[in-house]
Amino acid sequence: MKEFQQNIIDIHTHILPGIDDGSKDVETSVKQLKIMADLGVTDVICTPHFITNFYENGLKKRIHAAEKLSKALEKEKVPIRIHLGSEVLLDSKSLENIKLEKLNIQGTNYVLVESEMIAFPADFTEILYYLVKAGYTPILAHPERYNEVKKDPNIIENFLHRNVLIQINSRSLLGDYGKEAENAAWHLLHNGWVHFLASDNHCRNDNYNLILARNLIEKKIDSYTADLLTKINPKKLLDNEKITFFYLSESNKQNRKTFFEKILERFIR
Ligand SMILES: [Fe+2]
Repeated sequence: MKEFQQNIIDIHTHILPGIDDGSKDVETSVKQLKIMADLGVTDVICTPHFITNFYENGLKKRIHAAEKLSKALEKEKVPIRIHLGSEVLLDSKSLENIKLEKLNIQGTNYVLVESEMIAFPADFTEILYYLVKAGYTPILAHPERYNEVKKDPNIIENFLHRNVLIQINSRSLLGDYGKEAENAAWHLLHNGWVHFLASDNHCRNDNYNLILARNLIEKKIDSYTADLLTKINPKKLLDNEKITFFYLSESNKQNRKTFFEKILERFIR
């Protein structure tokens, strides 16, 4: 049986046809978006990769793919809205590219960014600083998958102090990227350092699991957090409203700790 939710917004997908390592054609995108609409997703932000000298998906290319997809969705009567964005692999040219190719999420100051998995480049925080200074709010995609974060998830708090928002992948919570990424994702959640849960859907199979991961958050944490990450913050993003960086008090964090974490803490003290 399908698990049904409503008004879910997926802010990270590779569903624009034929322009990166995501959906290969319009038919694949429509098929996948039908599945998502059936599960209660109303809005999808299309975030194809922008990687200098590799996937240079500029504005024209993305608009062209979005128009083709919109026509097909209308024809098939799929009740889902698509919005234009990008997933920018940060490098020294990023600010210039974001301005020139409008890589921010359509009509907003938010921009989805990523790093190399192996390590944050030496100038990573400097590049983020220049994005923030120029008026953008960066959203860091799936940090739980980066090696440095897997080793020490606590380094993520520093990004929030630098006006960077955090998006984790649904597949991480389900253990699809391994135990370390799974643990890191839950650690970030329990500390209130996550602002969005998204699918990072590459249309490689029909197994759309954002709702499954959302339900797990509802079960392990609470329904407010599940709503915050899949409905409330994504809606604020689309409306270009301000999103709170720190939303958990210290006592809330303490309450979220498991019995064993609390015991361990006592021994460490
Ligand atoms: Fe992605």
